[in-house]
Amino acid sequence: MSSTCFDRIAELVTNRPELGDGSPLGLRTDAAVVVEDGEVVWVGDAGAAPATDDLVELTGRCVLPSFVDSHSHLVFGGERAEEFAARMAGRAYTAGGIRTTIAATRAASVEQLRRRAGQLVTEMRRQGTGVVEIKSGYGAEVATERRSLEVACELTGETTYLGAHVVAPEFVDDPSGYVELVTGEMLDSCAPLARWIDVFVEDGAFDGDQARTILRAGAERGLGARVHANQLGPGPGVQVACEVGAASADHCTHLDERDVAALADSGTVATLVPGAEFSTRSPVYPDGRRLLDAGVTVALATDCNPGTSYTTSMPFVIALAVRDCGLTPSEAVWAATAGGAAALRRDDVGHLGVGAHAWLTVLDAPSHHHLAYRPGVPLARLLAAPQGVPATPPGDGSPGPGWPIPPR
Ligand code: NIG
Ligand code: FE
Repeated sequence: MSSTCFDRIAELVTNRPELGDGSPLGLRTDAAVVVEDGEVVWVGDAGAAPATDDLVELTGRCVLPSFVDSHSHLVFGGERAEEFAARMAGRAYTAGGIRTTIAATRAASVEQLRRRAGQLVTEMRRQGTGVVEIKSGYGAEVATERRSLEVACELTGETTYLGAHVVAPEFVDDPSGYVELVTGEMLDSCAPLARWIDVFVEDGAFDGDQARTILRAGAERGLGARVHANQLGPGPGVQVACEVGAASADHCTHLDERDVAALADSGTVATLVPGAEFSTRSPVYPDGRRLLDAGVTVALATDCNPGTSYTTSMPFVIALAVRDCGLTPSEAVWAATAGGAAALRRDDVGHLGVGAHAWLTVLDAPSHHHLAYRPGVPLARLLAAPQGVPATPPGDGSPGPGWPIPPR
């Protein structure tokens, strides 16, 4: 048994309204939180905590639940800096770029994949992220999809099978053959390693009927649904996500009234990934304001991938969501923590209520507003992590306090 009191916190974000000021962030000023054996056991006023083994004073700082990054593609070979530069010079983004990374991922050794993914998780941890979801999807063949999920499983319990990212190059003339592979042999091989199944619904990727078939096949194997929906243009992604009861519809950039209503009427979270709009120089960002005003639960995630959003920074995403998606700083911080937890259907992370996993992030700043107010400044770092987390991620990550891998 070991206990630590984090005391004299200038502002504590609990995400539990009843533990604070009644707002969704459940804010307390001049607060303390006690962590014991990797769990939150007490929240209250500064100086009033029960005795603990250790005491850490955080005068002038804000403490919040660690970010929950519910959408990332960290297992891949190569990179696409030149494609990014060409886009910044005026070329449009198309889903076809994914095939460049498929070729590089197939050619990479498991050691290379592991090293890159480990480095990216380390970057995330250094910027205050706790739980992270990781997708396959750059294999598009049985062996490489499985290998990608094996690497992902070393880093998180939130793994997603994305065999349906794009139709594999070998199947461009036979997309139904590829859907059969994704729902057959590839699913057999990958389902034991995944919690979720995802489909990219878009022109140039998969249509609504193919997505239904794929998500239903996943459900039969116990996989929860998530959908890449309405990223590059209008389409059926959000409708399919809501219809199958997906945990989340991600991107949500091009929505009509029906899509917004479907999200509001369902238990499906809208996960916005404005790093992708930034990095594709999209003229349109997701309208988070419209979604929140309609009563939709909104999450924020990095979508970290080498094509459309090569960032691991949740603070950067928060700043974009405030500037370009119409969220207030408080709404963006909620979406990046409690929202991410909702998108993963987790009630043990994303808040600091008693019994929650002790994923705590501290800011070198007195309030959560500073995350959006001071973009690009490295204010956030992990303060504590749950117990029983395995050692450091593989790769080059230099270990620091409190950044190991979460159990599930
Ligand atoms: O979420 N939209 C589909 N997948 C990725 C892009 C992948 C790529 O271009 O390599 C995304 O943006
Ligand atoms: Fe994505």
